[in-house]
Amino acid sequence: MEELLICGGRRLCGVSRIPGAKNAALPLMAASLMAESPVTLLNCPDLLDTARMEGLLSGLGCRLTRAPRALTVDAASARAADMPTALAGAMRGSLFLLGPLLSRFGRAELTPPGGCPIGKRPVDYHLRALEELGARVAYRPDGRVEVTASRLTGRELRLPYPSVGATENLMMAACRAEGTTVLENAAREPEILDLQALLNEMGARITGGGTTRLVIEGVKQLSGCEHRIIPDRIIAGSLLAAAAATRGEITLRGVEANHLAEPLRYLRQAGCYVERSGDALWLRCDVLRGLGTITTGPYPAFPTDLQAPFCALAATARGETQIVETVFEDRFHHLPELVKMGAQIARVENRVFLTGGELHGAAVEARDLRGGMALVLAALAARGESRIVGLAHIDRGYESVDNVFSALGACISRKEN
Ligand code: EPZ
Repeated sequence: MEELLICGGRRLCGVSRIPGAKNAALPLMAASLMAESPVTLLNCPDLLDTARMEGLLSGLGCRLTRAPRALTVDAASARAADMPTALAGAMRGSLFLLGPLLSRFGRAELTPPGGCPIGKRPVDYHLRALEELGARVAYRPDGRVEVTASRLTGRELRLPYPSVGATENLMMAACRAEGTTVLENAAREPEILDLQALLNEMGARITGGGTTRLVIEGVKQLSGCEHRIIPDRIIAGSLLAAAAATRGEITLRGVEANHLAEPLRYLRQAGCYVERSGDALWLRCDVLRGLGTITTGPYPAFPTDLQAPFCALAATARGETQIVETVFEDRFHHLPELVKMGAQIARVENRVFLTGGELHGAAVEARDLRGGMALVLAALAARGESRIVGLAHIDRGYESVDNVFSALGACISRKEN
């Protein structure tokens, strides 16, 4: 089993370039399945999750070409096939193939999707909305779900909650449906706008991305294009939090500061200096006060994906922080591990109360992706040595986390134990 060894207490200083966003790349890769000529995704990250999505697309007959920062998906020879159970079951992103498979082949079979254990994460919004477009959904005794549609027909529908994944699946299913689909209460995350941009470059007619109302006029055919994936706002937010936790000074390049408005507001409020210049963002932190009350929610609210890293940050602050998690009901696996490192934490249901102080190194286990990053961050700030296992979770969303932090002056290495 691999582990990260971190000798904490060093200020992080230096420059880091932000890669393309995992949570944009996965639906964009899935959308490529609908084009009849090659789609090239620039700034495409190379992660465990994107590698799994590449595996799923290859299994469906797509031809893939990988360059270090670009991926070309040629779906001309794709065929209707079932997704390999083990691969589909290992990643939540397999769910994004539902809309494209249904749109292109009229049939999709869904294995209960994997991903981070942060809540029940049902798929009812996806399935109900597809049914409203005319799909038939059959639940099998083995847990698989078969979705079929000889044709999809546009109509007005409303999501019960602005689910990111359901909005994306619906956009993909509806863009080749007959007629116009209007989706109310749509998610507004930057990743939705990126998917709208790609689909429109492929020939779709979608407007309203970034608002709660999407209008999708069905078209007959989609073709290839070249598209640049947006920067990963969660990696950017994690690195800023790491720099602040170590009272360091960092410059991020290739970042979209507008996507980070809420996290930046809290960082500034707690005493960090932050400046933006073009696509660069600079942060310096000398003293960190408590962060006040942070409530996660759908964009533009504070992102749930930064809740865990900000818990670790708050554990190092001079003062109190309260964090309220409203998106996922079980996204707290990092808390007992942070306590092992000396963090003062109390939790009442979805409210986390943190009193900042000095952390010390400990042996801890990552149990989900962002919770894993929280442990890395705490270990970088802590006095002494930490050992972190469960790296497969972290590798799903952060490229060579050890190299990224080494380049910023951290004492961090990956070892087989
Ligand atoms: C996406 O997950 C992201 N994943 C998550 O990032 C992110 O935390 C989340 O959006 C919220 O921003 C990807 O993009 C691959 P949701 P998704 O549907 O689409 C409930 C990370 O760390 N819900 O917006 O699965 C659900 O249980 C990951 O990178 C239903 O009840 O999130 C949750 O409570 C983790 N029924 C809430 O809605 C449904 O059918 C929001 O989930 C769908 C969702």
